Amino acid sequence: MIQFECRLLRGLLGFICLLPVCISAAPDLCGPLKTVRESLNSTLRRRYMKMNFPINYTVQVHYEEVFRLRNISRLNTSTEDEPVQKRDLQDLWLLVSQQGIKRVLRVLPERHPTRRKYLSNLENLFRDFEALYNQRNPSDEERDRPEIIQNIWDRLTDPYYQGWKSVTPKSLLDNCYRTMLCLFKECFSNEDDNYDYCEVLNWRKGKKTT
Ligand SMILES: *[C@@H]1O[C@H](CO)[C@@H](O)[C@H](O)[C@H]1NC(C)=O
Ligand SMILES: *[C@@H]1O[C@H](CO)[C@@H](O)[C@H](O)[C@H]1NC(C)=O
Ligand SMILES: *[C@@H]1O[C@H](CO)[C@@H](O)[C@H](O)[C@H]1NC(C)=O
Ligand SMILES: *[C@@H]1O[C@H](CO)[C@@H](O)[C@H](O)[C@H]1NC(C)=O
Repeated sequence: MIQFECRLLRGLLGFICLLPVCISAAPDLCGPLKTVRESLNSTLRRRYMKMNFPINYTVQVHYEEVFRLRNISRLNTSTEDEPVQKRDLQDLWLLVSQQGIKRVLRVLPERHPTRRKYLSNLENLFRDFEALYNQRNPSDEERDRPEIIQNIWDRLTDPYYQGWKSVTPKSLLDNCYRTMLCLFKECFSNEDDNYDYCEVLNWRKGKKTT
């Protein structure tokens, strides 16, 4: 009898102990993303990406490095054989965001305050997030990306691709911020809040925009 109870107890304890391990084995992406969000808040974006630059200053980026809410809705509703998954869009967001930061860093002198006090740190936050993200979502070797995504990917990573566009440094991070809220909305919306971060018009109306 005692033996039985012991076994039962051990079984129960084992179950209870295993549970948290299982949960924490998948590291939470929302924590690091919220840190990214804080670094991308409107005050900091304006100060470091606009006020620190000459008026109307622009950098050259590839067309595909402009990734906005409209791109997301267009890709999400594309009617190809292979449907675009959220994962594909998140992968794209991560690549575009990091390339955008690099574009701006490339034109900044070593001692520029935007580099020293802002973008270097942001670049590190993205790198940390990327490591966690890849750990959490190991890529599925079996699955090919949908063609529409793969084409964008190829152009983004092609060093010889020409197709330049002038954009303000701030617009790169504005887009990065908005698309982040849309693509990772589980991290940013409360239960009582069914605000749609992916809706372009919501941002236009300027309700929660920043
Ligand atoms: C953005 O973050 C900075 C530094 O943490 C803070 O001083 C500022 O008030 C924040 N701005 C907004 C709009 O939350
Ligand atoms: C900046 O761009 C705006 C809009 O294109 C233009 O009206 C303004 O004159 C420009 N300012 C400077 C200093 O070039
Ligand atoms: C987003 O759309 C613009 C055109 O509106 C296009 O030039 C750009 O390549 C698209 N970006 C991505 C990542 O597909
Ligand atoms: C993509 O479309 C699906 C189905 O219409 C929708 O549930 C999802 O929220 C959309 N995702 C994004 C990021 O817009």
